Amino acid sequence: MKTLTQKKILTGVKPTGSSIHLGNLVGAVLPFGRLAEGNDAAIFIADLHALTSVKDGAKLRAQTAEVALNYFSVYGHDTDITIFRQSDIPLIPRLNWVLNAVTPYSLMLRAHSLKDAEAKGIDLNMAVFNYPILMAADILAYDTDIVPVGRDQKQHLEMTRDIARAFNKTYKSEVFKEPREYIEESVATLPGLDGRKMSKSYGNFIGVFDDEKTLKKKIATIVTDSKGLDDPKDPETCNIFALAKIFASADRLAVMRERYLRGTGYGYGHAKADLLEILLSALRPYHERREQLLKDPGFIEAKLQEGARIMNARIEAKMKVVSELVGI
Ligand code: ADP
Ligand code: TRP
Repeated sequence: MKTLTQKKILTGVKPTGSSIHLGNLVGAVLPFGRLAEGNDAAIFIADLHALTSVKDGAKLRAQTAEVALNYFSVYGHDTDITIFRQSDIPLIPRLNWVLNAVTPYSLMLRAHSLKDAEAKGIDLNMAVFNYPILMAADILAYDTDIVPVGRDQKQHLEMTRDIARAFNKTYKSEVFKEPREYIEESVATLPGLDGRKMSKSYGNFIGVFDDEKTLKKKIATIVTDSKGLDDPKDPETCNIFALAKIFASADRLAVMRERYLRGTGYGYGHAKADLLEILLSALRPYHERREQLLKDPGFIEAKLQEGARIMNARIEAKMKVVSELVGI
C-alpha cells in the first residue's frame, strides 16, 4: 500500500547496449532496489531517448527487451518497482513539446551532453539537442521527488528544475514539482579485469549474466602482481580480492583474506578459482530467474503493459492540468 511518507523515485535507462556488468549491478541496479524499498519507485526503458543513436528498429526492440529481462531477473517477478517502456506513454512527447515552448534556447546550448556529442564528432540531430527536454518531461510527468542517476546526469536534473520553474513562472502555477537527483557516492568503483574502472567502454567487464565458461575465461585474465604461490599477498591491492569482497559472504571472505596473508600454497590461480565459485553462487538467483523468464516471453510484456497503465494514469491527470493552463 502506498502511504503519504513515500517518495516518488524514478529513473530511466537507455537501451543502447544489451548487457549489464557487475559495476552496473553494484553501482546502480542494486542501490536502486534498496532505495525503492518502502517507496513508490519506477524504472523505465528510455527507448525514445535511444532513437538519437540507434537506427535499426529490430536492434532497438531487442535491446529494449533485453533491458526489461535484466531488470526482472535482478528484481524478481513480483517486484514492487514499476517497470515500463517510455514509448508506451503517448503523452510524453506531447508534454515534451509543451516544455519546448518554455525552454530557453540558451539553456540548451549549455548542455554538457550536447558539447560532448560535438566534441566526439557525432553527427548531431535535433533529438540530441532536445534530449534534456525529453528527459525533463519523463521526470516532471509523474511528480517525481528523487531521480537516482550517475554523476554525468547531474546537469540534466538542473535543467529539469530550470524547465519546471520556467513553466510554473510562465503559467503562474505550481504544476511541476522540482525533483532532486540522487547520486550514489558511497559505492566504491568496482575494478575491471585490468584494474581500471569496470566499464563497457574499456571492454574489461564481467557480465551479470555471463555463463560459467565465460566467467572462467574472463577471471583467468584478471591482472595481478607477480607474487609466487608461497608468497604472502596483499588482499587490499588485489583485483581478484576487490571483486570477491563485494560478492562473498563474510565468512568466506575472512578465509580468503587469511590465505592471502599467509601465502603458502595459495596462489592467484587458487584465488581465481575461489572468485569463480563466489560469483557463480552470488549470481545464481539472477541466472535462474532469467532462465525462467526466457521460457515465458508473455510475462514480461504483460508486466510492462501493467507498468504503462499505472504511469499513463499519472501523466493523464497531470496533462489535464497542463493542457487547461496552456490552452490546448
Ligand atoms: P559504463 O561505464 O560501463 O558505460 P554506465 O556509465 O552505463 O557504465 O553505468 C551506469 C551506472 O552503473 C553508473 O551510473 C554507475 O552508477 C554504475 N557503474 C558503472 N560502472 C561502475 C563501476 N565500475 N563501479 C561502480 N559502479 C559502476
Ligand atoms: N539520460 C539518462 C542516461 O543517459 C537516461 C534517462 C532518460 C533518464 N530519461 C530519464 C534518467 C529520466 C533519469 C530520469 O542515463
